[in-house]
Amino acid sequence: MIRLITFEGGDGTGKTTQVRALEEYLQQQQRPCLVTREPGGTAPGKLIRKVLLEVGDNEVASSTELFLYLADRSQHVHETILPAINAGKIVLCDRFTDSTLAYQGYGRGIDLKWLRQLNDAASGSVRPDLTFLLDCPVDIGLARTVRRQAEAVNGRVREDRFEREKIEFHEKVRAGFLELAQNEPLRFRVIDAAKPVEVTAVEIRRIIDKELVA
Ligand code: TYD
Repeated sequence: MIRLITFEGGDGTGKTTQVRALEEYLQQQQRPCLVTREPGGTAPGKLIRKVLLEVGDNEVASSTELFLYLADRSQHVHETILPAINAGKIVLCDRFTDSTLAYQGYGRGIDLKWLRQLNDAASGSVRPDLTFLLDCPVDIGLARTVRRQAEAVNGRVREDRFEREKIEFHEKVRAGFLELAQNEPLRFRVIDAAKPVEVTAVEIRRIIDKELVA
C-alpha cells in the first residue's frame, strides 16, 4: 500500500511544482492527501530551515548541518507525517531521507552507513513507499534556481548555502541520487526533469495510476 511518496532530486529539478501537480491529480480522484516538505514542514522545522538556509557566510560544520536536518525530520515525522498516514492520507513529501544520503553523504562525504542509522532514528523507521527522483543536468537545475531567485522579492537575489556550492558538489549529489535509485529500483522511479513540466507531470501520473491500483 502506498502511504508515503517522496520527491527527491538536486536543486532546481522542479520537485515542488510536481508535488503540487500530483496533489491536484489525487484530489481530482477524491484521494485524501497531504503535501509537506523538508526542511521546514513544521513550526520548529521552519526555524531550523531558516538557520540552515540563511546562515550566510558563517562556517557550519557538516555534522551541525546534519543534526539540524535530522532534528527537522524527527519533528516532521511525529507531528505531520505519521498522523496523516494514520488518518488514511497519502503523504507527498518534498525531500526526505534520501536527501540526507545524497547531500550529507555523497556531497559532504559523511559515512553512508552511519547516515542510514541516523535517518532511521530520526524517522522512527518510517520509509517511503515510492520515490520520484527528478533528475536533470546540474547546469540546467542551477540555471532554474538563479532564474527563480531573480524573479523573487523585487528582484533581490538571495542564494542559499547549497546554491553557493561549487558545481562539483552538485555533480556528486546528482551521482549519489542516481546510485541510490539504482540500488533500490523497486522504490525509485527516475524521471527526466529536463523535459517540459507538463510532460514530467504526465509521466508521474502514469506511474501513480499503475502503483495505486497495484
Ligand atoms: P530548498 O529551498 O527546499 O531546496 P529545493 O527547493 O531545491 O528543495 O532547500 C533545501 C536544501 O536542503 C536543498 O539544497 C537540499 C538540502 N537538504 C540536505 O542537504 N539534507 C537533507 O536532509 C534535506 C532534507 C535537504
